[in-house]
Amino acid sequence: MNELSLADEEFAAIRELLKATAGIHISAEKRTLVVARLARRVRHYGLASFREYCALLRERDPGGEELGEMVNCLTTNKTEFFREPHHFDFLRQRLIPELRARGSRRLRIWSAGCSTGQEPYSLAMTLASDPSLTGWDIRILASDIDTHVLATAEAGRYPATAITDVPEPMRREYFTGAGPDREVSSRLRAMIQFRHINLIEEPWPINASFDAIFCRNVTIYFDQATQDRLYRRFWKQIAPAGYLFAGHSENLFWLREIFVPSGTTVYRKAGDRPAPASTPKTREVSIMEGDVHAAREPTAISTLLGSCIAVGLFDPETKVGGLNHFAIAEGQGSNPQRFGAQAMETLISQLCRLGASVDRLQAKIIGGGNVQAHLRNDVAEQNIAFARRYLAERGIPVAAERVGGEAAMRLSFETHTGRCRVWAVTAPIDDSAHAGDDR
Ligand SMILES: C[S@@+](CC[C@H](N)C(=O)[O-])C[C@H]1O[C@@H](n2cnc3c(N)ncnc32)[C@H](O)[C@@H]1O
Repeated sequence: MNELSLADEEFAAIRELLKATAGIHISAEKRTLVVARLARRVRHYGLASFREYCALLRERDPGGEELGEMVNCLTTNKTEFFREPHHFDFLRQRLIPELRARGSRRLRIWSAGCSTGQEPYSLAMTLASDPSLTGWDIRILASDIDTHVLATAEAGRYPATAITDVPEPMRREYFTGAGPDREVSSRLRAMIQFRHINLIEEPWPINASFDAIFCRNVTIYFDQATQDRLYRRFWKQIAPAGYLFAGHSENLFWLREIFVPSGTTVYRKAGDRPAPASTPKTREVSIMEGDVHAAREPTAISTLLGSCIAVGLFDPETKVGGLNHFAIAEGQGSNPQRFGAQAMETLISQLCRLGASVDRLQAKIIGGGNVQAHLRNDVAEQNIAFARRYLAERGIPVAAERVGGEAAMRLSFETHTGRCRVWAVTAPIDDSAHAGDDR
């Protein structure tokens, strides 16, 4: 069969369906991935095009079976045993001692978005190998929207090469088999109940209240409104003083009132009732020439520019962003961040430490005003040219610019949205002149 192509209209329909069904947001750049993943579904039905496939989803799938298959194809299921090992240490060293101190001998954990099962089995091994938990009532719920990965999880059979991350004593104790595959022991299976649960559907078919919910590397594919709703629902499902474990590039900083950071990507349930749904509180920070500021928590960074340049960088996936403010494209001095290259490098490395990835960054360039036109120097132009050249060389797209002119500018850059507002200092400029107000 000829290579299938996916027209704008069908791509948009598939993205919308996936968002509405599973909460998963697929960016416009992922068209090739969608074609690669769904081509076999088109062929499965002997269809000639994605157009026919979309018509089938619309008109000939009343029970939603094909919709379920489509979701199965488009989920990202990467996982491994003892992924982010500090979470399992936290369980042993903090959660269990706290439960014991409260006189409890009962433990309930939910692995929400468990993929092929490595996460719940790692939890089960951690608990089963702790002699101090003998006699405790322990249950783990493991769920996923993807029926294929859930079946693999339930089967509990893995290639021997996939369990190399499991410490040797646990491999011996909890896996059987000698061929190419290994099976998890019946003791571990007995601790886990597997269920098909779509996290964005309401209500969940669950009565239990959990001491810990592991929802790691799942919400990274959701937009912030969907994340917000989900975390508030998790809050209700967690027992008092219980914990939520998030993935390495997920954070809940805007929910501080109900989830208190308690370790690396671990949050402790707080408060009696969830805070009313609200937009995250935004911190205000002001920077000056030679400063660089990047943040994970919602922050509005403001600065005042003459011939200087400020570059705002934003990673839409992890929602971290930051701003620099440099005075001269190139040169040397006691504060190297006054110079373009150092200011850019510092900003990028701060963002990467906060979970951003250079290949996702988007830039906004502001400043470079010819505010001292009578002095006839071209610092402003050199600064603008430097910022454009530097970003092009790093492969970072420029989403918006507001450069040049003869007025100084004040700007405010939001780290969690990448929005940037710019005003001429003499008189405010109207909305349509916002640099990259890209909504
Ligand atoms: C990248 S895996 C993460 C697996 C595991 N938690 C880990 O961190 O290793 C994400 C999983 O979330 C599941 N998922 C995505 N959207 C979901 C939804 N709406 N409801 C339930 N599971 C979902 C996917 O099917 C996938 O198996």
